[in-house]
Amino acid sequence: MNSDNQPLPFIQPQARIEVEEMNAYQAPLEGRRNLLRLDFNENTIGPSPLVIEALENIPASHISVYPEYKGLQEAFIKNVSDIGLAAPLEPEQIGLFNGVDAAIHSIFHAYGNKGDQLLTTKPTFGYYTPCAHMQGMQVIEIPYEGEHFQFPLEQVHQELIKQKPKLLFICNPNNPTGTKVSAEKILQLAALAPNTLLVIDELYEAFSGESVLPVIDFNVTPNVLLLRSLSKTAGLAGLRIGFAIGHKKIINLIKRVSGPYDINSFAVTAAFAALKDQDYIDNYVAQVLEARDWIKNQLEFSKTIHHIEAGNYFLLWPKREPEEIEACLREEGILVRNMSNKPLIGRSLRVSVGTKVNMQNFWSAFNKHESKID
Ligand SMILES: Cc1ncc(COP(=O)(O)O)c(C=O)c1O
Repeated sequence: MNSDNQPLPFIQPQARIEVEEMNAYQAPLEGRRNLLRLDFNENTIGPSPLVIEALENIPASHISVYPEYKGLQEAFIKNVSDIGLAAPLEPEQIGLFNGVDAAIHSIFHAYGNKGDQLLTTKPTFGYYTPCAHMQGMQVIEIPYEGEHFQFPLEQVHQELIKQKPKLLFICNPNNPTGTKVSAEKILQLAALAPNTLLVIDELYEAFSGESVLPVIDFNVTPNVLLLRSLSKTAGLAGLRIGFAIGHKKIINLIKRVSGPYDINSFAVTAAFAALKDQDYIDNYVAQVLEARDWIKNQLEFSKTIHHIEAGNYFLLWPKREPEEIEACLREEGILVRNMSNKPLIGRSLRVSVGTKVNMQNFWSAFNKHESKID
């Protein structure tokens, strides 16, 4: 109030202009519990029993102590070394983050100068663009090609040479199209652009069998950074733990812009237990792949327009309005993701693949409502 008892005009400090002008990442994040969640590509059966046991055994006294991370990088290396690596990894090559989302944020924070360019594809994971805009970066998006959404290799190649972007983000396999790029092609792109950091988001690599990790030596190709997470395969999405794997120098730089205790103690305990129980993850992935084959057959047989490639998700184009089907499925307790606002795949729904039983439930509910056309 001023001296005349009138309210003061509302004045507020200005945020950075880039932040004032950007659109935040948007997703329907709330009200999802106790439903069949086929909208965020999460694990639908939950984490390994070893994770639950480890969490239950956390003493109350640990809650009042800042988290400790010792040994987690080594545990990650041990876990991935079983597949055979082209060059051994050292703990300093593994960055721990509060989910891959936090790693992505730090990469942009560390590398994105105002006016720099982010080269990426479209449609792709929706968090890269807001992070670029937050830095005042320019975004160049190359569309996937043809009716099968192939990776636009030639155009990415050309833009990489012409624009020399600061960052190239490739989601492999791509969310939401499932498009895969071979590790060999990624290494060829990296060799063309030593001043560009190629960030390969391998969140769904377990469902595609395609990864750069077994073939890369980061001392030979330091401009590639890989992202992995325990959210989707190991079922730890709610605890938030992700990994960036790359050259020591790059990991050190992106860690500088994250907080010292960003990952909480529960996530650390759960990650140790999950990494020890690779059989549980392998078994879940095998169930998803079986369910993906099953739903693919149903989609083909019923002549439903769809696109299904790698990843634990697929796209389908219902005959009815996607919003109507989405709402009907929600009534049945099933969540799917409407992709209407995404370029090239408008009018589609993205459906996550869980177990075969999950897919059978989805398919019968979908058909019940899809057949109700006036
Ligand atoms: C391609 C992609 N990258 C990153 C993330 C975020 O992963 P995290 O849960 O580890 O933050 C997601 C989540 O949906 C994703 O689809």
